[in-house]
Formats: sequence, C-alpha cells, structure tokens
Amino acid sequence: MNQNELKKSLSKLPLGLGDVRYFDSIGSTNSEALAWSAGGAKDLSLVIADEQTAGRGRLDRKWFTPRGTALAFSLILRPSAKEKPHLTRIVGLAALAVADSLRTRGLVAQIKWPNDVLLDGRKVAGILVESVWSGVEVDYVVIGVGLNVLKGAVPSAELLQFPATSLEESLGPGVERGKVLRDILAGILALRPHIGTDSFIAAWEKMLAFRDEQVQVEGGSETPMTGKLLGLESDGSLKLSSEDGKSVTVRFGDVRLRRQA
Ligand code: BTN
Repeated sequence: MNQNELKKSLSKLPLGLGDVRYFDSIGSTNSEALAWSAGGAKDLSLVIADEQTAGRGRLDRKWFTPRGTALAFSLILRPSAKEKPHLTRIVGLAALAVADSLRTRGLVAQIKWPNDVLLDGRKVAGILVESVWSGVEVDYVVIGVGLNVLKGAVPSAELLQFPATSLEESLGPGVERGKVLRDILAGILALRPHIGTDSFIAAWEKMLAFRDEQVQVEGGSETPMTGKLLGLESDGSLKLSSEDGKSVTVRFGDVRLRRQA
C-alpha cells in the first residue's frame, strides 16, 4: 500500500480522522505514535507503515511486519472525561473492530482475551495498547494493531508463541489492505461512543474464544490460573470459575485452552 492508496481508502471514512503519518518503513508505529502524542498529536491521529523493523507486542515480544504483507498502524486517542473511567475497555474496542471487520467478510473471528483476534483458532491480529499518564490523569492512549493480511506476514512456526494465520489463507488472494484498514477504523469510530455501555461489554463477551471451556491463564511470573472461562467483568477483566466453583477475576495474562491430563 502506498500513500495514495492509503489516502483513497481513508477518504471514505464516515467521520474525520486527525492527521495521518505514513511510512514505507519504520521501527514501530506505536513508538512513533507515542513520540508524536508527546509532541501534541490530535485525537484520532494515525501512524501507518508498510514495514516495521522493530515492531513490538505485549510482554516484550517482537512483532513482525514484512513489507507489503500486513497492516501495522497506531491510532492515538485523547480520551474525553466521559471515556476516562473506561480505559481498560480500549483493548476491547480495537479487538471488536478488528473482529467485526473480519466477520463482515464472512469469517468467524473470535477474540482471545485480552488482545488477540483468531480465525479458526489461529492468531490473525494482535493489539498493543499503551498509555501515558500525568499523575493520575491519562494524557493519551495509543492503540497499535497488527494484522496478518497476506501469507507472507506469518512468521515461521519456531518464532510463534501461538499458531498464526493470515486473511489470505481464509479469503484467497486479492485482499485489499486499504479496505480492511478503513473498515477497522470505521468500526473503532462507530463503537467508541458506546465504550461505557453494558451492550459494549456484551458484544465483546459474545466474541470471546474458549467460552465455557477450561483454560489456563499465564501472567508472567505468577502461578498460572485455571478455570472455566465464564466471560468478562465490567472493566474487561476475565471471569473464570475455579475448580471449587469460586469466581476468579483475571486482569492480566495470556489465555490458553487447558491441556487435559
Ligand atoms: C501482540 O500480539 O502482542 C500485540 C502486537 C501488536 C503489534 C502492532 S503492529 C502496529 C503497532 N506497532 C507496534 O510496534 N506494535 C503494534
């Protein structure tokens, strides 16, 4: 995607974005968006790149974006006073918009809490939300989205933490990155006014992978938690039911289906 194609696809967005910075190649669009925000970027400003050479994922993982194969972008939000109590829902905002954009293409997308979008149980997109605070007040939030569009975006198996796939694998050749980008951004814009509502949580919950299944949640150094995946708390935390029937809330970690002994 070059800058002209990008402009063409974004011109069809129902609501205006802020400014757009396009790069043929960059380290990380999230890093650029954080620096730009610190320099005063407006709400809904967008950084997009055709290639990332130092893309970042959660938990200090690397994210690969080979040239010409993927979507890699970062959207800057300056949350309003009404949105500030719902910052923990922002990852859901992005995940829902990505999943919706795939569902409108006839695909059965699911969200692997908190930040992955799956197709047929394999990861097609990852989301990295980073925020900067002044004391107890959030200044800005950067939503970074990486989506494997073509097969060439999927790293080799030995580099993967979780099986991965691409849109091309499901839809065949000819997927237009600009159109997918436009749909995701339009989805974020449309969902944003509803971020504080119960129906937002219900829509997010409906898309969750592994519901009613036994899962394990690994949270870095902590002992993994296990239980049946029930759904979401109102702040977007994960609700499990432990073996002794107690309700457990998980705020951080990676979910996997639990291996049966
Ligand atoms: C993850 O799965 O751990 C999150 C991956 C997020 C990758 C995107 S690509 C665009 C943006 N820039 C980055 O450096 N990371 C995010």
